[in-house]
Amino acid sequence: MNSFYKKDAWQIIEEGFHPEMNRESESIFSLGNGYMGQRANFEEHYSGDSLQGSYIAGVYYPDKTRVGWWKNGYPEYFAKVLNAPNWIGIDISVNGIAIDLAISKITSFSRILNMKEGYLERSFRVTDSENKTVEISSRRFLSMAEPDLGIIRYTVKSIDFEGNLDFTVYIDGDVKNEDSNYGEKFWVEVSKEIDGNSGVLITRTLKTDFHVATGMCFEILKNNKEVLVNADSIDKEKYIASSFTLGIRTGEEVVLNKYVSVLSSLNISKEHLLKDTKARLNITKAKGYKKLFLEHTREWERIWSTSDVIIEGDISAQQAIRFNIFQLNQTYTGKDERLNIGPKGFTGEKYGGSTYWDTEAFGLPFFLKTADQKVGKNLLLYRYKHLEKSIANAEKLGFKDGAALYPMVTMNGEECHNEWEITFEEIHRNGVIAFAIFNYIRHTGDEEYMAEYGLEVLIGISRFWSQRTTFSENLKKYVILGVTGPNEYENNVNNNWYTNSLAVWTLSYTIKNIRILEKGNPDKLSALFRKINFNFSDETTRWQDVIKNMHFAVDNTRNIFLQQDGFLDKELKPASSIPSAEKPINQHWSWDRILRSCFIKQADVLQGLYLFEDQFDTDTIKRNYDFYEPMTVHESSLSACIHSIVASRIGDIEKAYELYLRTARLDLDDYNNEVSEGLHITSMAGTWLAIVEGFGGMRIIDDKILLNPLIPLNWQSYSFHARFRGVMFEVKVTKECVSVNNISQKPLRVEISGKEYQIKGAEKIILNLKLDFFS
Ligand code: BGC
Repeated sequence: MNSFYKKDAWQIIEEGFHPEMNRESESIFSLGNGYMGQRANFEEHYSGDSLQGSYIAGVYYPDKTRVGWWKNGYPEYFAKVLNAPNWIGIDISVNGIAIDLAISKITSFSRILNMKEGYLERSFRVTDSENKTVEISSRRFLSMAEPDLGIIRYTVKSIDFEGNLDFTVYIDGDVKNEDSNYGEKFWVEVSKEIDGNSGVLITRTLKTDFHVATGMCFEILKNNKEVLVNADSIDKEKYIASSFTLGIRTGEEVVLNKYVSVLSSLNISKEHLLKDTKARLNITKAKGYKKLFLEHTREWERIWSTSDVIIEGDISAQQAIRFNIFQLNQTYTGKDERLNIGPKGFTGEKYGGSTYWDTEAFGLPFFLKTADQKVGKNLLLYRYKHLEKSIANAEKLGFKDGAALYPMVTMNGEECHNEWEITFEEIHRNGVIAFAIFNYIRHTGDEEYMAEYGLEVLIGISRFWSQRTTFSENLKKYVILGVTGPNEYENNVNNNWYTNSLAVWTLSYTIKNIRILEKGNPDKLSALFRKINFNFSDETTRWQDVIKNMHFAVDNTRNIFLQQDGFLDKELKPASSIPSAEKPINQHWSWDRILRSCFIKQADVLQGLYLFEDQFDTDTIKRNYDFYEPMTVHESSLSACIHSIVASRIGDIEKAYELYLRTARLDLDDYNNEVSEGLHITSMAGTWLAIVEGFGGMRIIDDKILLNPLIPLNWQSYSFHARFRGVMFEVKVTKECVSVNNISQKPLRVEISGKEYQIKGAEKIILNLKLDFFS
């Protein structure tokens, strides 16, 4: 673990240039606005180590799968989020010598991510061979108000230099993905135009044929006055640039404002791309830098006003939670139901920008509590629209009659991963997609969603569970064979407790909702049954039998649930027995050794106890936690947050806090030594949940909110906002009291530490409570 970045409540600060940490910082300082994203690459040429990354949500490439031995059922391709045309480029030379931070003499350097206003600022001083210095600073943002816009203010100030500055402002479409399976480039040129200080490059992707127009224009200010430059136009294959020279004297300052608009055929017809991009550039330049920046920061102000978490007394935790909230909002804004939340967001190539179960298990609960209802709804509709493809996906595996198996990894509804054990065996993802419907409705009260969309998905998934179970004559029980649970350090196991629990829960929940709709809207139900050819009694007889007779592996001696059949045959040892030089085990041990071991990559039984907590008493949860937590190595970013919530639930605040810090500062302190590949966006939602559901103990029971707050010893207070069925409220917890401020006009029912309160609209209650905290 390292603490490389300076601690600050609203900023991430890097001081001094550390080329060996450049990839890490490029991830940490990434920007995004839900529509596109950009790693913190430098504007000017850099010959040192860097992972260049500009990404556009939904623009992907189906790279042909690479496997050693092809098996029937493997997906054809592994989708890649594409490294899109580089729009940030501004090359600069000082008296003919190109600035390149890998080579130039730098006397100061800093990089700052301002999370409050959503921009990246970098500044450095460069000294030439005659010891003359210029100071360069760049401020960059991806507009939250107008998401197709990326804006850069690039400032060069002469400290004591006199001479010429040569600028080349460019768009470069000749880019590649580092993770390309066969080393191919994925973009080809469609057209380009460059005229003085504005131009548009249109490229298209191979296979998927997405057309992307990247347009740029710029203006120059010298000592605060606009100057007109006579720029030379340059064009090459997949590249356009404007180049010009300006003289500068001691104390003078040149500012270059680069305005970029990125439009794609995802939203605009191919024929209109050029015209529309030019129009966007004209409007943008006319608006000007200041106004664009103001509109952008106002959006951030709005976001923070409903999602900020304030922690007093712990700057590390404060910085971390804001970083997590910031990155989540940069990744997903919920405006487009075709988009989703990639595990790395827009910060790297790993996981291909695709959708995983992470969305429903982690992302959705965060957005349900912090964003408008339509954001959560769009996440659900994304899956609804993929129902047909998930039925086709199940058919490929031999299922029939409308059984739906959602992909483990997807861009467009098709499965697109290339590992058998993850792609096919982690069928638990189907369960959490069903659970998400329940979660959405209990948060929003939007019952209509069930009739309109939810039930159809639930029936598809239930059909799958029913067909995926086998009746074991030996056990006289239903079993689910050959799966991988969330703990990916096990493959092809039988009766993963979490998976079996989800299957039974889905079947019961589906039947329950069919019955509700039968009473509430029988016509709608009959229409749905006709549409999907569903015969209630024929199909649900088996479902009922599975519900009653599912096999669950248990250990009656310890009185715990077993992660899977045979788990106790392993040599049970605590993770603390692994020498630190061998951690993480996935980088040191053979796969064979990992699979034989008892060590658990991420919450598995505990993931189930977290979801279905209301079915178990505290002692049961504690016994299972005490058994599994010591064996868990937390080598998935999705693990520590769930363990932290469960630790809070059983009152172990000390452990809950330790796990919280691990999850919250996972990237900032690079716990898993992999932040260079990108950030762990989906686990960031888990971090927020570790505060709200963990320390705050927030739950939803029917139409009321439950709070059972705890507070870590070193915190003076913490507060968070949450939404529930049209009500927005703020909870503040100190060591002595809890307050709930109902910010909306509707009343809110809350139960705090066992006592119920009705809080009117715009009313605040303050309760003096002696809170538990560790001594
Ligand atoms: C985890 C999976 C997760 C994936 C993407 C893996 O390391 O084990 O549960 O879906 O990362 O975040």
